Amino acid sequence: TRRITVRDLTLAKERGEKWPMLTAYDAMTASVFDEAGIPVVLVGDSMGNCHLGYDSTVPVTMDQMTMLSAAVVRGTSRALVIGDMPFGSYQEGAVQALRSATRLVKEAGVGAVKLEGGERSLHQTELIVQSGIPVMSHLGLTPQSVNAMGYRVQGRGDEAAHQLLRDAKAAQDAGAFAVVLELVPAELAAEVTRSLHIPTVGIGAGAECDAQVLVWTDMMGLTSGKLPRFVKQYAKLREVMGDAAKAFAEDVVGGTFPQEEHAFH
Ligand code: KIV
Ligand code: NA
Repeated sequence: TRRITVRDLTLAKERGEKWPMLTAYDAMTASVFDEAGIPVVLVGDSMGNCHLGYDSTVPVTMDQMTMLSAAVVRGTSRALVIGDMPFGSYQEGAVQALRSATRLVKEAGVGAVKLEGGERSLHQTELIVQSGIPVMSHLGLTPQSVNAMGYRVQGRGDEAAHQLLRDAKAAQDAGAFAVVLELVPAELAAEVTRSLHIPTVGIGAGAECDAQVLVWTDMMGLTSGKLPRFVKQYAKLREVMGDAAKAFAEDVVGGTFPQEEHAFH
């Protein structure tokens, strides 16, 4: 078996086939998704929130991204692994962006990188793509800009909608192979999807996108607290793991674990 390539995803759009993408931040979780047939695994900088305990993606570093991306690559054999470019690793310009993308490819082994911004990341996208590294673009709500935009639906109103369409076109023209649309009105996401020949990957962007992505800890019910409305919960891992931890604690305190079958003589 060979890995999924960005070309497979382009062909899927031509055939009208939708595809799923999940995040992962470690080898074990990634291997579960790989075995389940998830074709694209994103090592999102959402690891800042759900894996490293920060309250945004802003503090995530290239060292962290590289280490965890390498783990995800090692845990998969079939999925295309995409590494997120963390905040500060590409904003200085195209050369810095290429250096960061190259590191993720050479040291972690990712098959593609993702960065936030359409028009504002045009030069970065162009140079990385020209250098032979596929780029996924991320538009709409871009969490690395939380200090400027907050967390709310993007692209509402004519002006914002036109800007999103311009950003999507800019990403495509710069050579991006796909565009994530985060927290965008469904009608606008549908329009972007129709107007691009590259696939759109929606998160909180309605049903018309070519693909859908969710943060794995959200969709598996591991995240604590209130989830955004666009998340569908497919499991209750927090409950399952909490119950198992409590059962283990009871066994140890009560002296019912280990039993004879767990002991060596
Ligand atoms: O970091 C992340 O998980 C992402 C997805 C939500 C697209 O960028
Ligand atoms: Na991200």
